[in-house]
Amino acid sequence: MSRSAHPAGPRYADVLPEGHYTAPPADLNSLDSRVWSQTVERTQDGAVAVGGLDVRKIAEEFGTPAYVMDETDFRARCRAWRDAFGQDADVFYAGKAFLSRAVVRWLYEEGLNLDVCSGGELATALAAGMPAERIALHGNNKSNEEIHRAVEAGVGRIVLDSFQEIARVAHAAERLGRRQPVQIRVTVGVEAHTHEFIATAHEDQKFGLALAEGQAAEAVRRVLRLDSLELIGIHSHIGSQIFDMAGFEVSARRVVGLLTQIRDEHGIELPEIDLGGGLGIAYTPEDDPREPHEIAKSLGDIVTRECEVAGLAVPRLSVEPGRAIVGPTAFTLYEVGTLKELEGLRTYVSVDGGMSDNIRTALYDAEYSVALVSRASAAEPMLSRVVGKHCESGDIVVRDAFLPADLAPGDLLAVPATGAYCRSMASNYNHALRPPVIAVRDGEARTILRRETEEDLLRLDVG
Ligand code: LLP
Repeated sequence: MSRSAHPAGPRYADVLPEGHYTAPPADLNSLDSRVWSQTVERTQDGAVAVGGLDVRKIAEEFGTPAYVMDETDFRARCRAWRDAFGQDADVFYAGKAFLSRAVVRWLYEEGLNLDVCSGGELATALAAGMPAERIALHGNNKSNEEIHRAVEAGVGRIVLDSFQEIARVAHAAERLGRRQPVQIRVTVGVEAHTHEFIATAHEDQKFGLALAEGQAAEAVRRVLRLDSLELIGIHSHIGSQIFDMAGFEVSARRVVGLLTQIRDEHGIELPEIDLGGGLGIAYTPEDDPREPHEIAKSLGDIVTRECEVAGLAVPRLSVEPGRAIVGPTAFTLYEVGTLKELEGLRTYVSVDGGMSDNIRTALYDAEYSVALVSRASAAEPMLSRVVGKHCESGDIVVRDAFLPADLAPGDLLAVPATGAYCRSMASNYNHALRPPVIAVRDGEARTILRRETEEDLLRLDVG
């Protein structure tokens, strides 16, 4: 889609930032299926429904702001990943994207495994009944207590991230009389084309053991010497919100290279490799994500090819998508409050949430879409900036978007693709109450994570 000329008047033309907005869509009422979950539709009276439920009814019953999650869509995405990777691979949902007990049960029922990266996520997974052998524990600085709990619970794998951790996990396993399956996380030196803060496989960062420096090979030696650890594979995660498969190909090639080196040095072939998560989703219609079956084919082909060249048996593959599963399944429902029009520039549309429920715009300069969902409108497009209610001018939810010019206080807006890293990164800034997550399915809505209350805040404040 082409970038528009400045829609602004001459007064502000020289200060309007370039490049964040495109021409207004032909129809502001249309809902692009690339950014909305599968059961979202505009109904005959112009309002939007999800899972057969009118958003006005959801707002009335549960209040705003609220994350509204399309359970049907979530389950369909789990199945798409499961089916794409098939019986010879494992899909670990990355719980950091969003985790609640209901979600853990959906994952379990749809045949997915779960990656957790903290004691809190582990506790949620176990409380919801996820079998421990289907859980992987990650983290660059796991506490001894987290390690102990994970080993004691019998998690299927702990992903070792540092030399110190090798000894600590081995110690916990010895004390508990276990032989703990582990993978070693390596940094493969790939520059993923994404925001610096969400790129993780270049070498100058905190995660993993560097391949190029020989740290990874040294970690393998040390793990193999310890009876209480069972080295089952090598792990690599190159970053997040990635569209280009080239980085995964390089990563797969280098990981297989290490497996070959291990075979040559130690005479063993490790049975597993994990290529992490990081697959991008559409936040705006301009984003063009890969489908799970394309991803599975591309990763499967490269691993098979590289193993054939090296004369290795093809290891069992696993992946850890978080955002690609949960991201597109939810939207955030807000109510419009104040409107501030800067003539010839844009209109600031304030909603009843903001950076406390979606920090991604402020933190990563993330782009989002937005739509008026409580009614249809035939008004002209108005260049808008959707902002929150926090005491901070960087409190922006959607930097540039076109909304109908007749927008008024009380209207409901929805920002799609907020299922990943919005509730899980939400804060209480300004003592905001973190919004609930409402799951909708077949005409019924239920709270899976309730809204915080002022009592919750005061309970922590022990005087
Ligand atoms: N596996 C590992 C080891 C990870 O560190 C991550 C994400 C994932 C899997 C899942 O990545 P996904 O498929 O969801 O991209 N807060 C940032 C994203 C940070 C991701 C951290 N690790 C954001 O809002 O974009």
